Amino acid sequence: MTPSGRRLRSAAWFEGEGLRAFSHNARMRQLGLNAQEHLGKPVIAILNTWSGINPCHMHLRERAQQVERGVWQAGGYPVEFPVSTLSETYQKPTPMLYRNMLSMEVEEILRSYPVDGAVLMGGCDKTTPALLMGAASAGLPAIFVPAGPMLRGNWRGQRLASGTDMWRFWDEKRAGTITDADWAEIQSGLARSPGTCMTMGTASTMTAAAEALGLTLPGASSIPAVDSAHHRMAAAAGLRVVEMVGEGLAIGDVLSREAYEDAVRTVLALGGSTNSCIHLIAMAGRSGIPLSLTDFDRLSREVPVLASVQPAGEHLMEDFHYAGGLRGLLSRLRDTLHLDRTTVTGRTFGEDLDGAEVHDPSVIRPLDDPISPEGGLAVLRGNLAPDGAVIKYVAADPALCKHTGPAVVFHGYEDLRARIDSPSLEVAEDSVIVLAGGGPKGGPGMPEYGMLPIPDKLLRRGVRDMVRVSDARMSGTSYGACVLHVAPEAHVGGPLALVRDGDLVTLDVEARVLRVELPDEELDRRRAAWVPPAPTFERGYGALYYEHITQANEGCDFEFLARPGTTPDPNAR
Ligand code: FES
Repeated sequence: MTPSGRRLRSAAWFEGEGLRAFSHNARMRQLGLNAQEHLGKPVIAILNTWSGINPCHMHLRERAQQVERGVWQAGGYPVEFPVSTLSETYQKPTPMLYRNMLSMEVEEILRSYPVDGAVLMGGCDKTTPALLMGAASAGLPAIFVPAGPMLRGNWRGQRLASGTDMWRFWDEKRAGTITDADWAEIQSGLARSPGTCMTMGTASTMTAAAEALGLTLPGASSIPAVDSAHHRMAAAAGLRVVEMVGEGLAIGDVLSREAYEDAVRTVLALGGSTNSCIHLIAMAGRSGIPLSLTDFDRLSREVPVLASVQPAGEHLMEDFHYAGGLRGLLSRLRDTLHLDRTTVTGRTFGEDLDGAEVHDPSVIRPLDDPISPEGGLAVLRGNLAPDGAVIKYVAADPALCKHTGPAVVFHGYEDLRARIDSPSLEVAEDSVIVLAGGGPKGGPGMPEYGMLPIPDKLLRRGVRDMVRVSDARMSGTSYGACVLHVAPEAHVGGPLALVRDGDLVTLDVEARVLRVELPDEELDRRRAAWVPPAPTFERGYGALYYEHITQANEGCDFEFLARPGTTPDPNAR
């Protein structure tokens, strides 16, 4: 029982006189616990994505101890569960292939074990949506502990941004403007501490979205991973989730349509990663809440970009935190947010924001001096993207936002890699580089190929941005005039599969158009001649993925996870 008289879910495992409860309690003794250490206490699952191969989460083993401290302190019983780690750096072809797998693992652990509440620990890109999707489906009280960004990078006194500066200096190395020795030094300065990428990449975007949804303690998402405030936040989250169990405050009480709308506004004001479109649509789907690309486009026209954080701005996450963090930024948007909804604190979102301030307006800009008056993200449609495509135009050369040029088409990443730097490639500055076959099924897993490389010969001529179109995603730390997430993807017969070298492709961000300048009859003729490619997987998890994955505009969830329905109580049989 909780102090308020609520029966704990875990009581179904531990209470009663029968053999079942006897057996479960005997095994608690085997774990070294006396009855008074766990009986009648909320069991808190600490779902930890720590792994020795994931540098973004390398501090989470230690941080779980602080969460445990908070749980014990509040009268709960903490149990750590190691769950899959999705390392953006190391997992191939992309951790996106495994986001739904982690979400299933989370959901089923929470459902099948004697768990009353959960602390979700992670932050590297897909980890946040995976944890939250699983927890939303399980429906228990849950709180998120973001891994926190790493410290600023450094090279000869220059600030370095993980990801963004790696791409930038890679282009400079290919253009011959930095030496091999410079490049080797940069390698040691890019990522100097535990924590997630310190730009406004997918990790920082999604942890901020989690905070805006009301799933973290206020201000948690931007605390640098190695700051002692991060230790204190972890302990406080452990303490708070025990209280949430007592109050019966479940994740479904926090995740509302209003919460998702505020999360979209937050992402836009941050100039956040395009990946958030896919993840938030998938997360909302698990909450039974309709959210679409149309919502992103509508809100993007209303919300200014206020965070001057790379790649859209100048600064890094450490600067953002010291400037007031997400609470500071949200205080700027306060009048447009849904302030009455409940968060994991048990208070309203508005109460959580009370007292928030901006300490450095050069990092968190005022409404009358934004980085961009609009959200910087546009949803494009047209005969090349009937179900939508996205572009983060705030990180693109403005001159390219209205452009028509001849296509240079690559079918799959291998084809791209083999020919992009070939001296014989017919490509000019005004060409539109097209990659077909980088989508959810074709990629497979929709890898972050979308910042398609600029051909060597154009780089040497000083070209640094071009219009690029693909059904792939791009890293949130990337930049450029890259049209992404074209849906439906080429692998399932989307129009991208029909484009040929020399076809004129039009991008018009203002008009929200992505079009190939061909008559419908010609597209129909090509479609009739199109031969579907072989499935990318024949067996195993890959086949499950291939058979059930939805398209980018639908969130790339598995249709059987996204659909409504009930799941039997594990104790009912
Ligand atoms: Fe983990 Fe960037 S590699 S957040």
